[in-house]
Amino acid sequence: MTDYDDFADAYSTDNDSNLTNGYYERPAMIDLAGHVHGRRILDAGCGSGPLSAALREKGATVAGFDASAKMVELARHRLGQDTELHVMDLGEPLPFADESFDDVVCSLVLHYLKDWNGALTELHRVLKPGGRLITSVNHPIIHKMIDPKADYFAITQRSDTHTFNGQTATLTYWHRPLHAMTDAFTQAGFRLTRISEPPFSPHTPKELLPPHMQGRTSFLSFLFFVLEAH
Ligand SMILES: C[S@@+](CC[C@H](N)C(=O)[O-])C[C@H]1O[C@@H](n2cnc3c(N)ncnc32)[C@H](O)[C@@H]1O
Repeated sequence: MTDYDDFADAYSTDNDSNLTNGYYERPAMIDLAGHVHGRRILDAGCGSGPLSAALREKGATVAGFDASAKMVELARHRLGQDTELHVMDLGEPLPFADESFDDVVCSLVLHYLKDWNGALTELHRVLKPGGRLITSVNHPIIHKMIDPKADYFAITQRSDTHTFNGQTATLTYWHRPLHAMTDAFTQAGFRLTRISEPPFSPHTPKELLPPHMQGRTSFLSFLFFVLEAH
């Protein structure tokens, strides 16, 4: 199991300005969210709150939660005492009324869950009818790219090691095939409106791009969904 408490500071610092989060995942989520002025948004697995901060700058009202107490502490520092933040697990009952959010954003969290049904049912419950779940996960092709002998169709655990701001951490995820993701969304009452494999930001500093990526616009890392609650 991955506990972000063990490397919260290092992860947060890295995430703020690295290629994968700062110039790819977060800009893509902000782009998919579009016009959010006046919308009430729940950031599920908010980490230290960089996406919440960006959405708030665009005029949204945000609330968030994360399983890691240290990440929530960092989010509180970033977002201020007035922001509603909780330490809790996605998958457990959420302390929000039915139909209380216009959107839920969930960046890079679902792949930590073996079972998506309980989590998605709760996120659907707190969304207004027509509200959106905008989410990113590990692209399922990565499992086969890293381990060509792996069974793509099995929901299985895999781990990899990253260095965040000089600190090494092992992340353990649940791989699931694409159809299992879309089936889970549909079963929880969502309609799929968009699957995205977005480019990285055109503002990415050249020195962040490995040499083989110079001249390209995209790389394989995450898969993004926009879903509508009905
Ligand atoms: C890759 S980080 C992304 C953080 C944030 N969404 C962002 O994009 O900056 C994944 C986050 O998910 C949180 N997380 C993992 N499993 C969780 C769960 N079951 N419930 C709530 N948060 C979880 C971790 O603590 C961590 O903060």
